[in-house]
Order: sequence, then structure tokens, then C-alpha cells
Amino acid sequence: MQVSLLWWYVTASSSFFDLQVVNGIEIYSMKIDSKVTSRFAHNVITSRAVNRGNVHKEVVFDVELPKTAFITNFSMTIDGVTYPGIIKEKEAAKKQYEKAVSKGQTAGLVKASGRKTEKFTVSVNIKAGSKVTFELTYEELLKRQFGKYEMFIKVKPKQLVKDFEIAVNIFEPQGITELEAEGTFITNDLQNIIKKTFSEKKGHVSFKPALDQQRTCANCSQSVLDGDFTVRYDVKRPTPDSLQIVNGYFVHFFAPTNLPKLPKNVIFIIDISGSMSGREIQQTREALLKILDDIKEDDFFNFILFGSDVHTWKETLIKATPENLDEARKFVRSIDTEGMTNLYGGIMRGIDMLNDAHEGKLVPKRSASIIIMLTDGQPNVGISNTQDIQAHVKKAIEGKYTLYNLGFGYGVDYNFLEKMALENKGLARRIYPDSDAALQLQGFYDEVSNPMLTDVELNYPENEISDLTKNSFKHFYDGSEIVVAGRFIDNNQNYLAVDVRGEGANDALSYTTHQDAEQTAKAFQEQEYIFGEYIERLWAYLTLEQLLEKRIAATGEEKENLTAEALDLSLKYKFVTPLTSMVVTKPEDYDNQDGIADKPTEGKWVFLSTALSPETSYFDGDPHFIVPVPQKDDAICFNINENPGTVLNLISDPVTGITVNGELIGDKRANNDTKIQNTYFGKIGIANKYLHLQLIVTPEKITIKNGNEKTGFTWLDSVTVQQDGLTLTINREKNLVLSMGSGVSFVIVLHQVWKKHPLHQDFLGLYVLESDKLSEQTHGLLGQFFHGIDFTILELHPGSDPKKPDATMIVKNKELTVTRGWQKDYRTDPKHGVDIPCWFVHNNGAGLIDGVHTDYIVSSLF
Ligand SMILES: *[C@@H]1O[C@H](CO)[C@@H](O)[C@H](O)[C@H]1NC(C)=O
Ligand SMILES: *[C@@H]1O[C@H](CO)[C@@H](O)[C@H](O)[C@H]1NC(C)=O
Ligand SMILES: *[C@@H]1O[C@H](CO)[C@@H](O)[C@H](O)[C@H]1NC(C)=O
Ligand SMILES: *[C@@H]1O[C@H](CO)[C@@H](O)[C@H](O)[C@H]1NC(C)=O
Repeated sequence: MQVSLLWWYVTASSSFFDLQVVNGIEIYSMKIDSKVTSRFAHNVITSRAVNRGNVHKEVVFDVELPKTAFITNFSMTIDGVTYPGIIKEKEAAKKQYEKAVSKGQTAGLVKASGRKTEKFTVSVNIKAGSKVTFELTYEELLKRQFGKYEMFIKVKPKQLVKDFEIAVNIFEPQGITELEAEGTFITNDLQNIIKKTFSEKKGHVSFKPALDQQRTCANCSQSVLDGDFTVRYDVKRPTPDSLQIVNGYFVHFFAPTNLPKLPKNVIFIIDISGSMSGREIQQTREALLKILDDIKEDDFFNFILFGSDVHTWKETLIKATPENLDEARKFVRSIDTEGMTNLYGGIMRGIDMLNDAHEGKLVPKRSASIIIMLTDGQPNVGISNTQDIQAHVKKAIEGKYTLYNLGFGYGVDYNFLEKMALENKGLARRIYPDSDAALQLQGFYDEVSNPMLTDVELNYPENEISDLTKNSFKHFYDGSEIVVAGRFIDNNQNYLAVDVRGEGANDALSYTTHQDAEQTAKAFQEQEYIFGEYIERLWAYLTLEQLLEKRIAATGEEKENLTAEALDLSLKYKFVTPLTSMVVTKPEDYDNQDGIADKPTEGKWVFLSTALSPETSYFDGDPHFIVPVPQKDDAICFNINENPGTVLNLISDPVTGITVNGELIGDKRANNDTKIQNTYFGKIGIANKYLHLQLIVTPEKITIKNGNEKTGFTWLDSVTVQQDGLTLTINREKNLVLSMGSGVSFVIVLHQVWKKHPLHQDFLGLYVLESDKLSEQTHGLLGQFFHGIDFTILELHPGSDPKKPDATMIVKNKELTVTRGWQKDYRTDPKHGVDIPCWFVHNNGAGLIDGVHTDYIVSSLF
């Protein structure tokens, strides 16, 4: 939960120094109210602010939500008037969004911001003395993992809030067995402010720190509330099943305990192509070693490595005896990278090996067979057409084994990995290329390493039930839970019998269980706060989630049908899904609907989604450089003043071989009035030494040099070029997006000025996405900042410009005088740009950049 405000206006010179009033805005109340009934969570975030200043002020409401949640409502209330959010089909809403952006109005939108979260942002201008209340509602079905249901709430008010509260009320008809609550920001002092109680069916958690308890230190105005607040609980299970029937809908929770573990047959298929070299292969080895420690003696396993060729460790699956595990450890330590990406060959070898093991009765009949494939790139040896690979793999697996695809980093075709996994009863997961990648891999293995049952089927009488969610599952994993929901054909039916089947380690599981609505009603007796028709909403949530998942792998008419069905449900139950958007009408101009909430899907909308955030390093305009500092939600900026014709090194990475240089141009003629000449980037050169690629971009043309081959385009082209390791998309007269082998992407924005402008000429801006895909050794004017920088602002004081206060900044152990200012981000609006606030470092970035700026002057573009 974050509400970010422009706080630097509170200068030390102001005589009235109220610590809660920041930029004239006081957030006097923030409440997070969460009600969970039978795993279904309904959360309402309410934030109230008042403009204590004497002019109009912008208030930003900025919240991070779990990716698995759907927003269901949003409203703003200003001086007693409520402006509701309206959920619409995406296309209709998008037109309004584009209209708003083209007018330079700020828009609210959801963007992917973290591994587990999405950001929702809305801003509004309110009059002096006015109050605004934001209210956001979202819902989610809590999943059981490792024996617990977990709910997390992002907390980041960014200022002290008089009345801050998190309240979680849980109602579980089965009875609660344990309840935990913790916060990543909770210190010993704060620990006893978390109140939690549970008895029988009800659990309650509350966290309500007083103003002084929110301070980072006795007299500090900074808030300690910054991180994840997590609630975990589990329920009683006298029987594996809990059936609940309310108002013509039912939900069935199935989680047997105390079953013997099924032996498993695991094949690890590991990408060892060249792009895995360095940290990725190191982390993979580390994770595999840890995983080997967890393999049980009854299990069978093997490793298949694919680079240009396919290598197997053993010819067949082998039993996990201590000796074999020791040998496997030696093998894993010796894994090294080579060549290209023969993903197809690797997977097919794995399937053949499992087939042989089953046919030759090498592995037990009652066992679970799992393929775990890890890759960081796209197939380019053997069969490389992803649709063909999908078809062959599906045909070869025939539903016998589950396939899990792990996509390491951003160079993968995640869409393809996800489709292929879903078609084979598994799932795909992205491994984020961070220092904890090995832990992420190991964590994923833990989730799937304890199958208890295979081929689980929950059968309900067909003539009584319609709109059933998925009811057959390849595996049931220890510590998880299977959930099925449906609707009775006869709305008044209040009795249900279900036939449960599965294959366990020793024998088949088969029984019938039943429930009637009266029993459910009895179980719900003490529940005062059932919200609406929660089982119906739970059913709608689950159905939507499954329709959207099925849609990923579907094509043609089937996909259209799934889309139509999912859209209907989203609109009917008011869920913001990838098919819908929420439009918020702002009060300044009632006719002008100019806010929007979009749910981004993995791999899509990312460009739009990150458009308004300073999370990207770039330069643009009179060459100004901007360096995001995500941990401060802020940025540092600087200019380089050099003569036209100078070439500056912006990025150089000896490991990936990527270099980016830029050549300055000036105005058409020197401006006599100012001493400093305005300069812009007029030519950008991007080279990849290892791919033998060079890209030269000017405001007139775009040239790709691939060895001796040369291809040229102009800005009037609208094309996508895909070659080995490179994807280039030119958006006519706007921008181009270049992605390189390692996963890093560059966006070059074209700025066109009026042809007969007496002074200015066309120029370019560069934005770097996924800069963490470059190595730690990356340097250059921009590149040196890709691996993080932090700063501390010590004191604010009035500067020479009354609108821009100065401050003392501690950065890289140096003390610098900086000025609060704005730089433009031109990606969404190339004409006007969007203002990004930043701390400006004077004198060509002196003190901030390594060395002096002239160190970065190079003799030519390449
Ligand atoms: C959305 O929230 C507003 C404000 O609380 C409320 O008036 C409205 O009824 C809600 N809409 C729905 C569909 O729940
Ligand atoms: C807090 O501020 C007050 C008033 O300025 C001062 O007297 C007091 O010593 C400060 N306390 C600490 C712990 O800095
Ligand atoms: C799509 O829906 C139409 C109309 O309900 C139906 O006739 C058709 O068979 C469906 N197609 C597929 C592939 O499910
Ligand atoms: C700039 O100065 C030059 C030389 O002094 C002069 O010829 C020119 O007209 C001036 N240009 C402007 C725009 O004032």
C-alpha cells in the first residue's frame, strides 16, 4: 500500500513544520480491511487525505496488489461527491485512456511492479482545504502451499499517518488451527502492536501503530512502515473434504493428510547454451545441489543437458541411492555451458527416457513422473519453431507426465513455455535473474517434490451440476489443496454427493462424501460478516482464473469462445482482468474519463505498464541523464555539456559485449545569449561484439550491420526484424525497440521538431529496459548505474530558484549540493513528455559519475 506524495516542498525554512503535512497534503487515515471467508479474501483499502496548503495539490493513490487478485471496485470521494470506477471491456476503455494520454493528462493504471505484485495508481488534483477519500476493493482466493494459506499486504504509506490500521478477519467453517502474522518491517518494538487471536472458526489480526510508533527514530518524520505484512493460517481437517453449499452454488475443498508419499521419477532438463554462462549456470548448479539433498531414496532421477547437442548424465533413470546422489553431485558441479539452444532435443530425450522407464518396468507402477525444464533462451537448434515443438511434445507426452517449464530471465519466450506447460498438465514459472535465483529454483522444486496422489478426480452428479470448474488433476501435492466449485441446475437443491478418486502410493483412493446446505448453514451460524454471495463470487473467481489460463494455450474459435465467456464473467462480477479495464472519471472535467486500471498479463502491456515509472535508466532531450533509485522511489539526474560532434560512451559491458555510444548534435546555429550550447543526441550506435551486430540510429534512418551485411530502414517504416539474438521493432515515426540476446532492451525515441524551426533539429532519446541483464562489469555514463546506487538527502534549503529547493546529498560517500527538479520521460508522449521528479547533480554529474565526464569521450561511434 503506498501513497506517494511530493514531499520536498516542506523546507526547513518553513516556520510551521507539521510532520504529518507533506507538500501540503496530510493523509490522516489509512485502513486496510480484509475479510476472509472460506479462503476467499475481500480486501478494502481506504485512504483519506486533506489538502492543508493554500493552492491546488495533486494527491497520488498508489497501491501494490498481489498478481493473483482481481480489483473489483474503486471510488474517489471529494468533498462528499463520489466518483466511481466503471469496469468496461478493455478495447472501449483503452480508447479513452489513449485520449487522456494524448491530452497529457495523468492516468491511473495498474502496472506489473514486483514479482508478486501489480501497482495501481490514480492521481487527482484537489482544491485547498478539500478532502479526498480513495477506496479500492480487490478479491482473491488464497491458495494453500506448504500447509498454509497465505495472504500478504504491501505496506508503504511514505508518511506518518495519524490513523493507520490493518484489520484482518478470518472465518473458516472448518475451524482454524493456527494463525501467524508478521511484517518485514516489524522491529522488536512493533512486534507487540500486532494483535492476533483465534478461536474455533474465527481469527482476527490487527495492526494499529500510533503516530510515534511509525517513526524511524524519536524525532524523525520518516515512516518505518515499508514492506510486506503477511498473514498465514491453516484449518482443521478431520476429513479430507469440506463441502459448502450456499444459495445454489457449492465449493469443495479437498486436502487429504497423512497419505504415504508417492515415489517420483524426475527428469531435470537443463539449458547449458552459451547465454547461461556466468551467474545463471552458477546459480543453477547451486540449486541442483540443494535439490539433490532433498531427493528421497525411493525416487528415480536423471539429468539431461542441452546446448547445441543433447547430453544425458545416465542412459536411464536411476534410483536415488546415497552413492548415486554423490555421483550426481560431482556431475552437477561439472556442468558447464556450450553452444546454442536445442530445447526440442532435450525435452524429447526426457520423454523417451520416461517412456522407456515405464515400459521396462524400471520405475514403480505407482509413482509420479515429472519433467522439470529450465531454459533462459529461445530454441534455435533442431526444431526451433515453437508451435511445432509444442505439437510434438504434446503428442509424445500424451498426458502421462507433467511438464514444468522454468524460464530464467527475460530472454525466454515465456508465452511459449507457458502454453507448452499448460498443455501438459504442468505450469510455467519465471525465475527472476537476481541474487536469489538459486533459492527461487529450489523453492519451486519444494512445491512439486511431494506428490501424494496422481490422477485425482472429483466427480459430481452430471445431471445436477452445471458450470463446474476443473475437477481432474494430475497430481495432488502435500501441503496444497484442490478446490472445485459449481452451480446447481436446480437453484433450490441443497444436497450434494461427490465421488473422490485418486491413485496413492500403496492403493487407489475411492470414496463418496456428501453435504447438505443445512449443515453448511449450521457451520456458518456464527458468521456475522459474510459478504454477499461469497461462494458464488468464489466460483466466478475460480472459473475466470481457469478460463484465462485455458485461453493461453487455445487458438482460433476455441480462443474466441473462451475470451467471450471470460469477458462476460468479468463484466458480470465486476473483476478487472486482462480483458477489462476500469475507467475512473476525474472531477476536473466530468465528461472526460481519464483514469484507467488495466490488469497486465505476463509479457504484454509491459511497455505501457512501465511507461510512467522512473524504473528505467535513460537520457533524453538536451542530453539529460536520469538514474532511477527504486528503493527510494526517486531518481537522480544530470546533464553533460559538450560540443556538438562529441561521442560519449553510454554503456559498455565486456561480458555480454554490448556497447552503446551517442554522438551530440547542437542547435541549427549557436545561440548567442547563453554561454552553454544546447545539445542533443543525433546519432546512437549500439554494438554487440559477440553477435557481430551493429545498429546505427539517426533521426533519418536506422541501419543494421550484421558482419558484412547491411540492412537499412527509415522512420517511415513499421516493421519487426527478427534475427539471431536480436529483435528490432520500428514504430513508424515514434520509436524503436531493440532486444538483444542477453535480454536487455533499448527503446530509442524519435523527437521530430517542426521542419522549418529556426533553431532546433530532430534528435533521439534512449531508454534501457531490463538493464539488470547486463553484467556487473557494465560501465559508461549510464551503464555504471545499472547495478544500483543509493543516496541520502540530509537537509533541504532554499535554492536560487524559489520553486526548486536545494539539498545536501550523500552519495558514494561524497557530499554534493543537488537541486530538486524534473526531467521528461517522453516514451508515452513524445511531444510533451511526462515529468519525472529527480535530484539534479550539477557540473556534468561531478561526484556522481566515476571519474570526470571527459573520461567518457570516445573517438567514434564504434
Ligand atoms: C463501489 O464502491 C462504492 C464506494 O464505496 C460503493 O458506493 C459502490 O456500491 C461499490 N460498487 C460495488 C459494485 O460494490
Ligand atoms: C527532539 O526534538 C526536541 C525539540 O526540538 C529536542 O528538544 C529533543 O532533544 C529531540 N529529541 C531527540 C531524541 O533528538
Ligand atoms: C464456440 O461457440 C459456438 C457458439 O456457442 C459453438 O457453436 C462452437 O462449437 C464453439 N466452438 C468451440 C471450438 O468451442
Ligand atoms: C550571433 O552572433 C554573431 C556574431 O557576433 C552574429 O553575426 C549573429 O547575428 C548573432 N546571432 C543571433 C541569433 O543573435
